[in-house]
Amino acid sequence: MVSANPSLRLLDDAVLEQTSVVANNAMNRDRRLSGVNSYARELGFDPYERLVTLLGERPGGQPSWIDVCCGSGRALLAAEAGLAREFPEADVALRGIDLVENFAAEPSTPRLRLITASARDWRPDRPADLVTCVHGLHYIGDKLALIVAMIGWMVPGGVFAAHFDPHSIRHADGSSAARKVLARLRAAGLTYNARRHLLTAHGPVTIDFRAEYLGADDRAGPGYTGQPAVHSYYRGW
Ligand SMILES: C[S@@+](CC[C@H](N)C(=O)[O-])C[C@H]1O[C@@H](n2cnc3c(N)ncnc32)[C@H](O)[C@@H]1O
Repeated sequence: MVSANPSLRLLDDAVLEQTSVVANNAMNRDRRLSGVNSYARELGFDPYERLVTLLGERPGGQPSWIDVCCGSGRALLAAEAGLAREFPEADVALRGIDLVENFAAEPSTPRLRLITASARDWRPDRPADLVTCVHGLHYIGDKLALIVAMIGWMVPGGVFAAHFDPHSIRHADGSSAARKVLARLRAAGLTYNARRHLLTAHGPVTIDFRAEYLGADDRAGPGYTGQPAVHSYYRGW
């Protein structure tokens, strides 16, 4: 456990991952690929359609999608099923990573791997065309480190999209670091859509935040989704 100021109890990420906020059964882990409760709706584009477009643009290429904090993996499983139906010969790599092993089904082809791991220490074996994190960053301790990692996982021309609350980044005194973090992200070429709470990039992108991560507050209360979220503390910007 680390502390930024005496009144605040900050957790390191291994401890954070054991807390009820992160290992919470009530959170929405079950978004589909398309429809009402879906990735297409939350992201503003359908990842499957993006993969299909890539198959058309690059015959013989290997389109790939990494979904960080994939929850039940339903979106990836639906993409796998769609590919099996429509493009049975296509070489496509689908990867889902989640801390909790709560996947809706086993993958039915080698195209899809659903991996139980913390995103903080998982690394892909190759860069991807699409890197998504749908409402996952809210539960991460060192969010800036994960953003930096994910935006480096794209192939040239790849797409990154993640939900992000800039106010969940805090200075050591507890004040919001939203303005600072958004300025840095925008300077590096990322786009933040405040209405969708969506951070996007076309990559790969590199950023050096030069901020020291102090720890996470799992008692920050509800974020913009209405669910309890985690605040992440930094100093030395
Ligand atoms: C709100 S759910 C979203 C799940 C999925 N993206 C969806 O939209 O259906 C957030 C997910 O983040 C996962 N998660 C939290 N901390 C994580 C970590 N350190 N590494 C990987 N996954 C994590 C949780 O287990 C949970 O499944």
